[in-house]
Amino acid sequence: MQITSEIEKRRTFGIISHPDAGKTTLTEKLLLFGGAIQSAGAVKSNKIKMHARSDWMEIEKQRGISVATSVMGFDYDGIKINLLDTPGHQDFAEDTYRTLTAVDSVIMVIDCVKGVEIQTEKLMEVCRMRNTPVICFINKLDREGRDPYELLDEIEEKLSIKVRPLSWPIGMGKGFKGVYSLFDSSLRLFKPSKSKLEEGLHITDLSDSRIDEAVGERDAEQLREDVELIEGVYPEFSVDDYLKGEVAPVFFGSAVNNFGVKELLDCFIRFAPKPRPRETDVRLIEPSEKDFSGFIFKIHANMDPNHRNRIAFVRVCSGKFERGQNYYHVRTDKKIRFSSATMFMAQDKEMVDEAWPGDIVGLYDTGNLKIGDTISQGEKGVFKGIPSFSPEIFKEVINKDAMKTKQLEKGLNQLMEEGVAQLFTYEIGSRKVVGTVGVLQFEVIQYRLKHEYGASCDFVSMNLYKACWIHSKDQKKLKEFVNSKYRHIARDKDGKLVFMAESKSWLTMVQDNFPEIEFHFTSEF
Ligand code: G4P
Repeated sequence: MQITSEIEKRRTFGIISHPDAGKTTLTEKLLLFGGAIQSAGAVKSNKIKMHARSDWMEIEKQRGISVATSVMGFDYDGIKINLLDTPGHQDFAEDTYRTLTAVDSVIMVIDCVKGVEIQTEKLMEVCRMRNTPVICFINKLDREGRDPYELLDEIEEKLSIKVRPLSWPIGMGKGFKGVYSLFDSSLRLFKPSKSKLEEGLHITDLSDSRIDEAVGERDAEQLREDVELIEGVYPEFSVDDYLKGEVAPVFFGSAVNNFGVKELLDCFIRFAPKPRPRETDVRLIEPSEKDFSGFIFKIHANMDPNHRNRIAFVRVCSGKFERGQNYYHVRTDKKIRFSSATMFMAQDKEMVDEAWPGDIVGLYDTGNLKIGDTISQGEKGVFKGIPSFSPEIFKEVINKDAMKTKQLEKGLNQLMEEGVAQLFTYEIGSRKVVGTVGVLQFEVIQYRLKHEYGASCDFVSMNLYKACWIHSKDQKKLKEFVNSKYRHIARDKDGKLVFMAESKSWLTMVQDNFPEIEFHFTSEF
């Protein structure tokens, strides 16, 4: 059947890292291998730059450009790879969290000098929620970095995942000589190269004297010791454990020098999961089912206020998507026809007629679709696993123009549907609070409200620690809790109850006092 073969050859994944670890560089090298771009620098120019914080308009423009690179599709060795871009800028972390709901696996880039950084830890937590399989790429081996064993221990400790090196570096920094693949017993010698790749030395026996000739006796001896130690200490690599998200294979290399990248890619296409079954609130949907289904994980607004259309990104979960068909929009219980669907291939948008599980389709939308929406061929189940995450910065919205109250509401709602930020409305006094991961979004919201909706607002900082979605098996207890803490109770965009915690210590105290109430930092649990 066509659907089975289409599923077999698809791999949909994302690259995650702390900013500056080398995500953009690695993306670019992978695209070069896939022939999707011809020259280095093509992706780089679309990168949202860290230092652009002061100039957020520039960032928004770049975000506009980055629609094209939101999904990069390329073929490699008969496999169709969909690489979903995740914004590196920390202020857009929520975008990244949501994108991770649409991938089947991730490659995590770690800088060998800096080790595991804070953003890596946060992203790993998101991966853990869905047991997403992770491959680690330890980058920048051409720099004097930390001891590889120490790095592996740090990954295990800080990211709470077992590791299994599948390649091993010979030297580092100035003395970096190459990488030995534990996976297929081959040695590749390091030669800085920005584009092409040279074949490695294939060695089946570590005692082969060609190793000594290639890297020198001392390093060769060290390699033999290291390999013996690794094979002794780490259990054999288990693909099953990797697919369960329990063990992360680790590769070493230097993305900018295109070194170690091919090994990574070869292993990726061999082991990384093909599109997997997905859970709705009704049942488990197999990708091979005949009927199409998918969910929206990202919405991108047009920056031009004269064209208010948006692009909704749909991850196809089952069946075949066909352009021009009527599909069922579960939330509004309506049929919608998508006549112009776009698929993304590297940097070119292409009109598509059909798409398969694992693919991402861009749908033009005039304001009907929301993040988290399910589209199907009639089935009513809603895909799970697209939660909102508690923001970290909270500000109350103050309307500055009483004549434009309606515009403000409409604008805020639409921006929230796009996922620019989250809105919480207090039960008492209907105070509206916007929550974000970064400060940048507040400026973006103000600017867009003014230019796209003609509304103006101010933001007043609020001293809040987290928004906690609350739940209890005992409805009476939940009601009691809400009554006793009514000043701190709000509703999210879907009307779900949220407890707005002012500090960590206070939250702990409240949790102790109300053991029957569950407090969650995500909207789905
Ligand atoms: P990011 O997307 O994770 O934020 O990182 P990005 O790829 O932009 O890489 C961050 C910096 O690290 C870049 O330098 C990049 O060239 C450099 N880099 C990436 N891989 C390697 C590597 O293997 N070795 C070394 N030594 N550096 C690497 P930059 O100075 O910020 O940018 P550029 O001027 O070099 O483009």
